[in-house]
Formats: sequence, C-alpha cells, structure tokens
Amino acid sequence: MLDEVLKALAPKAGGVYADGTVGGGNHAVAILEASSPDGRLYGCDRDPLALAAAGDRLAVFQGRYELRRGTFADLNQWVAAGSCDGVLLDLGVSSPQLDCAERGFSFQHDGPLDMRMDPDQALTASVLVNTAEVEDLARVFWELGGERQSRLLARAIVRARESRPLETTRQLAEVIERVSPGRGRKAHPATKVFQALRMAVNDELGNLRAGLESVWAILKSGGRLAVITFHSLEDRTVKHFGRERVREYTFPGSVDVPELRQPRAPEARWLSRRAMIPSAVELATNPRSRSAQLRVIEKI
Ligand SMILES: C[S@@+](CC[C@H](N)C(=O)[O-])C[C@H]1O[C@@H](n2cnc3c(N)ncnc32)[C@H](O)[C@@H]1O
Repeated sequence: MLDEVLKALAPKAGGVYADGTVGGGNHAVAILEASSPDGRLYGCDRDPLALAAAGDRLAVFQGRYELRRGTFADLNQWVAAGSCDGVLLDLGVSSPQLDCAERGFSFQHDGPLDMRMDPDQALTASVLVNTAEVEDLARVFWELGGERQSRLLARAIVRARESRPLETTRQLAEVIERVSPGRGRKAHPATKVFQALRMAVNDELGNLRAGLESVWAILKSGGRLAVITFHSLEDRTVKHFGRERVREYTFPGSVDVPELRQPRAPEARWLSRRAMIPSAVELATNPRSRSAQLRVIEKI
C-alpha cells in the first residue's frame, strides 16, 4: 500500500520520518525520495537480515537516515520525543522471511520450526510446540489464528510429540494434515496454526501495544502515524488506540458512563473514518496484500 502510505504521510523536504518495520526498505526508499533533498528517516527492524538489506537499499541516501536493529516498541528510546512528522508501521512478516525455508515461517518450505524475527531471541516455534501445555497451544491457535479446530489440533500435536519432538515445518504440517485433511477448504489446513505460532513466538500483539505508545511519543503535533495491519486483532488494537485519542471526553474508571463524562480536547484525529484496503491493481500483483488494512491517525 505504498501509494496510500505516501499520500497519508505526505513526506516533504526537511521532514523527519520513522519506519518501525523497515524490512527490505521499499517504503523507506519511497519516503526518502519523496522528502528529498534533506528529509531524514529513522528505521528499525528486529531482523538483522532485513536491516542489512535495507542498509544496501538506503546507501544512496547517505547522511539522511539512521538504521538500528530492534523493536519499534523501543523507538522512543533513541528518537527524540515530538520530533517526527510521520511514522510508519507495516506489521507482520516480510516476503523474504516467508520465502526462506531456514527461517521456518512457512509450511510451503521444509525447514526448522523456528519463526523468530529476531534470531537472538530464545523462544522458537519448536520450543512452543514441544513444551506448551495442550490448553495453552489450543488458546494460541484459537485466539491468534481463529482456528476452529484448535483443541483437536493441539491434542494431535501433543500426542505426536510424545513419540518424537516436532522439529521441522513439514513434520508439524503433516500432523495437522492427518487430523484435518482440509478437503474443500481454500487454504491449507495448517495456515491458521502457522500464523498463530508466528504471532505468539514474536509476541506481535504485545509489541504492537507497546509500539503504538512508543511511536506516539516521537510524533510531533500535526505528525501522522500510518499502520498497516494483516490481522483483525492487530487492526482492533490500532482502532482502539486511535479511538482513545480522538475522544473529546474522559471518564473515571473503565466503564464509559455518559453522565460522568468530562470534556477534554482530543489528542488526535483520524485521517479517514474507515480503514483503507489495497487497490484492485495491488491485489492482482501482490496476493499477499489481500488482508492488509491501513489506518492513519494525526496527532493534534
Ligand atoms: C511487512 S515487512 C515490512 C516491509 C517494509 N515496509 C518494506 O517496505 O520493505 C514487516 C517487517 O517488520 C519487521 N517487524 C515485525 N515486528 C517488528 C517489531 N516489533 N519491531 C521491528 N520490526 C518488526 C519484520 O522483521 C519484517 O521485516
């Protein structure tokens, strides 16, 4: 959703921007080009391979960017408060991550059951799959994957790992295929389990909650936050974050009782009421964008 992001952030010469999920650097390059000749960009990614790829792409903008490895939840620790005109979070997994069998993100390639965006992190998908209690696995599959057969699949995994640990993506996919052959389904039966495991291994929702607070702090007044999500729970988190800030009143406690509301100046406004979705052209050329949604909030 490059065009939509550029329209929303409207990068300008002299502007300061942050890309919290710099990935291969496509958005970052476009932001630096659009803010020529002297716009600046801070970029981070948890994945050192992504960061190296971004470094190669951005080298032509020498002196105008700073890249650091780490989570966007820590951006406020190295980017000054109130300094940015625009911040982008393009959540989820990248194509290079999905396509590399060794990273273990996909059941379409056989590889180690890893799924870490940050390879120095201790928790891998294999640790989770081979040590979590059956109830915890089922909860992850249901809450993060929306997998209706969550309990059935969790029980099958626990049974399978009793004879031998599940160490590869293929082994896990085969356990799932055996109990849930997926006849008549559009997607492979392991799709939701793999998505749920990836989100759990990388604590993606926890990072998003902390990250929204962090990037809000580095935005200046009039600055815009653009977030691309790929999962309904992520979109809900962003929507909730925005709603809290556009509200023109506060209320005591956690229940909004109209009689107890106190007026206040809102902290933000939505750029558009509804989430934006990819154009038909983008959907045709990039099928992975089909569940993407973009929300943009402007700090007042
Ligand atoms: C969809 S890709 C971003 C692609 C990028 N916008 C581009 O133009 O190439 C998502 C990236 O976000 C990174 N990522 C996910 N969660 C992160 C987090 N909490 N902090 C930093 N990077 C994160 C992933 O490692 C991945 O490289």
